[in-house]
Amino acid sequence: MAEKIRIALAPGDGIGPEIMDAALLIFRAAGVDAHVEFLPVEMGESVFDRDTRGMTDETVGMIEETGIVYKGPMGTPKGGGGKSINVSLRKMYGAFANIRHFQSLPGVETVYSRAGVPVNFYVIRENIEDTYGGIEHRMTPDVFECKRLISAPGCDQVHRAAFELAKRLGIGSVHCGHKANIMKLTDGIFLERFRSIAAEYPEIEHGDVIIDALCMNLVLKPQNYRMVVLPNLQGDIVSDLAAGLVGGLGFAPSANIGKHVSIFEAVHGTAPDIAGKGLANPTSLILSGLMMLRHIGLLDEAASIENAVLHTLESGVHTGDFGDRSTEPVGTRAFAEAIISNLGNKPQTREAARGGSGASAVFSRPERPRANALMRTFETTRSSYAGVDLYLHTTLGAQEVAQRLQGVCEFAPFKLTMLSNRGTQVWPTGSVFTECVDYYRARFELRDPTGASSMGQSPCIELLRRVSEKFEVVQYQPLKNYDGERGYSLAQGQ
Ligand code: NAI
Repeated sequence: MAEKIRIALAPGDGIGPEIMDAALLIFRAAGVDAHVEFLPVEMGESVFDRDTRGMTDETVGMIEETGIVYKGPMGTPKGGGGKSINVSLRKMYGAFANIRHFQSLPGVETVYSRAGVPVNFYVIRENIEDTYGGIEHRMTPDVFECKRLISAPGCDQVHRAAFELAKRLGIGSVHCGHKANIMKLTDGIFLERFRSIAAEYPEIEHGDVIIDALCMNLVLKPQNYRMVVLPNLQGDIVSDLAAGLVGGLGFAPSANIGKHVSIFEAVHGTAPDIAGKGLANPTSLILSGLMMLRHIGLLDEAASIENAVLHTLESGVHTGDFGDRSTEPVGTRAFAEAIISNLGNKPQTREAARGGSGASAVFSRPERPRANALMRTFETTRSSYAGVDLYLHTTLGAQEVAQRLQGVCEFAPFKLTMLSNRGTQVWPTGSVFTECVDYYRARFELRDPTGASSMGQSPCIELLRRVSEKFEVVQYQPLKNYDGERGYSLAQGQ
């Protein structure tokens, strides 16, 4: 018999242990234990006293060895040095794609279920980049900045994960949600890489939709979408909007997929108000567990459990947080036992989940990296300097700033071409109605752009030095062209 697949098991805090017990009871009854060994690890609120990561060295070692974590909700201590374990895990192990499945469930009443509109779609959210790098600075007394990084290899990873999942699940269309009409470079590359990866999957239809329109469409016609892939912040917001469409966070499973480590978790919290009372609803954790079973190839077991869950919900069994209020709710354990008694049954109100025609567990973890991997997408792209943006802390008016800067760069290879304030051009032209703050961008571009290819960085640094004698420069940003294309945006009104 093949070796069992090992999974690091972290039940979590609050209701975590209760709902994890329920999930494992069901898995055991469905025969999962024949293929999987669950290895308990220490992780959660109680560990923060000893380690600010909220997990021990042994836990880290076990996660790296197994490559799979099944976890319940975990509390983050308020104040102190402890950071959210959920966020730490995703970042530390590069779990770049957050996959969440939103489907109407029988017995879970929503606006859509009452209207007879079926909801069934996936949100794939990029999990590492965007503003979630948390790279923030206070630039001046009045201005704060958060750096939004989007990398081409990061986009490729999440888009490929989306199309691979769509292929595996037989999903016929994938959409990219974005705001590339405004953020032409960052969301622009997210969209460009989506199209490029989509071309590798001609059997799957693809389209794109601007994020604001997507939100409206999801509320008006959620049935029009099967899978949407989004940058981190937009994906975070759309995920919770989508959870609202299917009855709340308690019914939306979540997987964080990485190259080396994947994490499967319930997205609700530790519910301290009902912890230890045996009342919690284990559905989200069970459904996340089904994503995990499918991840390791236990397709038959996953389908059998999913069908039993659906059948149980159809029969009206419910915990206290949902379902028909006129019927008595059951506790966590009784809910799990009802599901176990329905193993082998299929749902009546919808198509049953299909297994994998006897496929058995497969999971091969890539070899442990010896050093941090460097990912590349545009390896042969050539760049050249075109100018410099200098960000200045000043309370002077635009005309005054421009006059002083023009004096500074009289002999430089650059000329001052634009001043902007909060992204809007205020010099050489602009509107007197534009309200300004104490932070200007001064754009300097080459007087003779034909010299760009031979120019190094030194003239830019020399310009910075000269300007810094007259102004407080709070940020230096070289302007570059890549394969002849502008690698910087224009100001509003430029
Ligand atoms: P929460 O999700 O724990 O609770 C909100 C409400 O939903 C409560 O009334 C709770 O009883 C109910 N609820 C949540 N899950 C339930 C379930 N499975 N069955 C029945 N009712 C359920 O959110 P809250 O109160 O904001 O956070 C409590 C703690 O959980 C905090 O320490 C927070 O940091 C942590 N948390 C952890 C998450 C994770 O590990 N993924 C996610 C969100 C919060």
